[in-house]
Amino acid sequence: MTTEATKHARVIELARAKVNLALHITGQRSDGYHMLDSLVVFPHIGDEISVKPASRLSLSIAGQFAEKIQGDPADNLIYKAAQLLTEHVASASGARIELDKSLPVAAGIGGGSADAAATLRALAKIWGTCPSSADLSRLSLSLGADVPMCLEEKPARIRGIGEVIEPLPAFPSGAIVLVNPLIEVATPAVFNALLEKNHPPLPELPDGFKSMKDLASWLKTCRNDLQKPAIAQASLISTVLDILASQPETLLARMSGSGATCFALCESLSEAQAIAARLQEHHGNWWIKPARI
Ligand code: C5P
Repeated sequence: MTTEATKHARVIELARAKVNLALHITGQRSDGYHMLDSLVVFPHIGDEISVKPASRLSLSIAGQFAEKIQGDPADNLIYKAAQLLTEHVASASGARIELDKSLPVAAGIGGGSADAAATLRALAKIWGTCPSSADLSRLSLSLGADVPMCLEEKPARIRGIGEVIEPLPAFPSGAIVLVNPLIEVATPAVFNALLEKNHPPLPELPDGFKSMKDLASWLKTCRNDLQKPAIAQASLISTVLDILASQPETLLARMSGSGATCFALCESLSEAQAIAARLQEHHGNWWIKPARI
């Protein structure tokens, strides 16, 4: 399943946040997992994974949110991803893995999944091996439903439980402001609180979006079906959404994934920065980040 490639001495990968611009829940499988129809983007912001060859596997964690995921490294999805790849790659040895955790945890923006995906990409480089993208995608799905899309890190329509990935060829550039009021929301709890499981899929997608305005007006015909059950558990999400929606630069305000991170879509990075600066003044303890998409 692998081909030889150039071995790298040290690799740093950005584990970009995943943002669901729209998220429709269209059904539930017999194993409990929910079927999705979602549009995702990956803003230029994320955790940083650094890997170096070593005689054994090790993981150290630093950064703003490091203390949230301390504990047994073997329980971390990064470590599980590394072990999984070791089992499937003949040239695998060990690796010293360092994580700079700057995305909030349990935040609806794929943090742990993005870290696992970035680890797979980085280790494949230092071990000089290239599993086929189909093999890597299959392996990554066993780590979590969001991991295959985080491997790709491209604007895409997502179906199945997250593994059916359809890249969107024509996608406008723009920016986003991510806001998390630093409340953790447990994904399974939000899914379980969803009463209606069979929502309609996304409306028909146009051939492409000409601009962010164009994209935002299409997105207004969509929803995040998890927003309501998440707000029922953490009402502060609704306050964040109201604040984002009231900013003059905002084209669309919505929650991502199972929350609590919300976003405002904007035409340019300078507009996103202006919103972020204004919000940070009044909400110094919230996590607020502008980024390009
Ligand atoms: O796959 P992952 O471990 O990221 O999912 C976390 C939890 O979110 C699952 O245990 C499940 O409760 C819920 N989930 C779901 N349907 C999905 C993705 C996640 O019900 N498509």
